[in-house]
Amino acid sequence: MTNPYIEAYEKSINDPEGFWGPIAEDCHWYKKWDKVLDDSNKPFYRWFVGGECNTCYNALDYHIDNGLGNQLALIYDSPVTNTIKKFTYNELRDEVAKFAGVLKAQGVEKGDRVLIYMPMIPHAAISMLACARIGAVHSVVFGGFAAKELATRINDAKPKVIVTASCGIEVKRVIPYKPLLEGAIEMATSKPEKCIVFQRPMETAEMMEGRDVDWDEAMKKAVPADCVPVKATDPLYILYTSGTTGVPKGVVRDNGGHMVALKYSMKAVYNMDQGDVYWAASDVGWVVGHSYIVYAPLFKGCTTILFEGKPVGTPDAGAFWRVISEHGVKALFTAPTAFRAIKQQDPKAELMKNYDLSNFKALFLAGERLDPDTLTWAERALNVPVIDHWWQTETGWAICANCLGLHHYEVKQGSPTKPAPGWNLAVVDDSSKEVPKGTIGALVVKLPLPPGTLPTLWKKDDAYISSYLEEFPGYYKTADAGFIDEDGYVFVMARTDDIINVAGHRLSTGGMEEVLADHPDVAECAVLGVEDQLKGQIPVGFLVLNAGVDRSHDEIVKEVVQMVRDRIGPVAAFKKATVVKRLPKTRSGKILRGTIQKIADNKEYNVPATIDDPAVLGEMADALETIGLAKARK
Ligand code: COA
Ligand code: AMP
Repeated sequence: MTNPYIEAYEKSINDPEGFWGPIAEDCHWYKKWDKVLDDSNKPFYRWFVGGECNTCYNALDYHIDNGLGNQLALIYDSPVTNTIKKFTYNELRDEVAKFAGVLKAQGVEKGDRVLIYMPMIPHAAISMLACARIGAVHSVVFGGFAAKELATRINDAKPKVIVTASCGIEVKRVIPYKPLLEGAIEMATSKPEKCIVFQRPMETAEMMEGRDVDWDEAMKKAVPADCVPVKATDPLYILYTSGTTGVPKGVVRDNGGHMVALKYSMKAVYNMDQGDVYWAASDVGWVVGHSYIVYAPLFKGCTTILFEGKPVGTPDAGAFWRVISEHGVKALFTAPTAFRAIKQQDPKAELMKNYDLSNFKALFLAGERLDPDTLTWAERALNVPVIDHWWQTETGWAICANCLGLHHYEVKQGSPTKPAPGWNLAVVDDSSKEVPKGTIGALVVKLPLPPGTLPTLWKKDDAYISSYLEEFPGYYKTADAGFIDEDGYVFVMARTDDIINVAGHRLSTGGMEEVLADHPDVAECAVLGVEDQLKGQIPVGFLVLNAGVDRSHDEIVKEVVQMVRDRIGPVAAFKKATVVKRLPKTRSGKILRGTIQKIADNKEYNVPATIDDPAVLGEMADALETIGLAKARK
């Protein structure tokens, strides 16, 4: 028996052009595409070649032109500043057009990059949309990154202008942004010509004469700018994400494929219609924020919520229920860690009883593995479908989901259900051969990837090929391992590289090792992601000191913790490290990360046959115990 999901899925795989072409008609184009899918330059595939469009027009003006100008487009809800501010489509478009005028007045032209380093305030979304309006390429950097990470991104994107705010607010702590930005600009070899600064009342940033521009002042003088047509294949944004080294990857998103896929996903995956209120509780600095706080809900004509708060502590574990009931949210998208935080503080969901959640229809979770406890707790507490879906910064939207707008499948714990339309997913072995159902292997996607996915890495076509396409020819490597069961359900088990997920934030342990190795007393080190009840995983460092170092180990640990905070940022949540005499290695010198991981996670492990000296495993367990990890012994 067929269902709309099966029909859509099969069509999307057997006839991608016939599938995506009619879907693209749902968007506004200045000029229709010549070809839906251009595969003349494999492995670089391009969608809607020859088409001309504008992302900002499709997000805002399109709805106004269709009579929705007075509908709410964005609700800014900020418990940390006690503010709720609502923007209709008319109001948001006017702000965006004015800020686009500000950017133009500062010399920003089509194709120029604009780096946005902002907290969760409407100005962040306004800046992104303003860039899209004039064809500039934005690159948003998450506020929790340190100056050095920001500098790396400045050097790679070479922005003409940086847009920032005087501060962010972490629950009750004010985090001044300008000193971080100044530090980054000083370190960077590529300097911006201008910085536009939004001054928040709780912190006044010092301005640099001649370079810095005050947001409010500039807006007063701004001449609103209109949308400019761009090519469907022109870049809309660059978003940096952790790679397997300390150097982040600049994921590029195009204009045409992005708007087509995201608008489609709003109905197919999330079952949202125009006028519905949709809330992605994430941050504009992450891909979830780009796709589902800013772009997709606006493409669909929904009302999006921009929430400057946390699931707990702003003011309590009832914050999510308050927002859902106050604004009539129909679907919420967040990371499982947010629900673990709520469950920890309010295990019986007592606070939920204070709110009317009758409009709420579905919860979507992604960013990390959804553990069965959290799934069951959320299902019981909310009594709506709880949908695990799997995706990556690179993919821009869900690879696998229980597509609520097409067909709601029975949930299997631990599975994000089935590939979304467009995703020709396979599980392969090392020689790229598909493995039988139920067998674990590398999760790969047969090319071409659907619209909305990364066409390349910023100015690094070679790195795009070597990172994603080389290992399994003809496929995109997700770098996740997993399996597909007899019923076609996909199970995502683990990353195959050094990426860990800390509170839904993607981080590279290799990047942290580079920092630790820089400490003068450290001879060798390893960083591993260890299971954590709240954050899913936390990084833990193992340090082998240089011979003759007789300083206090506690001091050295404190120093390396501070170094990671200073160089990568607080978001790394690197708080635990321990000194060990040596690291367990194979006879050929490879660190036995998998075994250390099992010891740290308190799981059974076998002593590897290739180990240099098995006694080292007992030493590791002892070291872990000193920092409160791994009590069991094998
Ligand atoms: N600017 C500056 N600092 C930031 C920051 C930002 N935008 N975001 C986080 N930080 C800081 C935090 O204050 C914290 O600092 P600390 O070490 O001084 O306490 C550190 O970075 C780690 O942050 P986080 O991992 O978020 O931990 P937390 O203890 O503050 O909060 C949760 C834990 C679970 C409540 C929180 O991670 C959360 O709400 N997660 C939701 C999931 C999410 O948004 N995922 C994104 C992808 S969907
Ligand atoms: P990011 O690029 O930050 O979105 O992180 C992407 C990675 O997060 C994926 O490669 C997975 O390892 C992990 N991930 C995201 N969603 C899920 C999910 N639903 N289940 C398991 N892992 C997930």
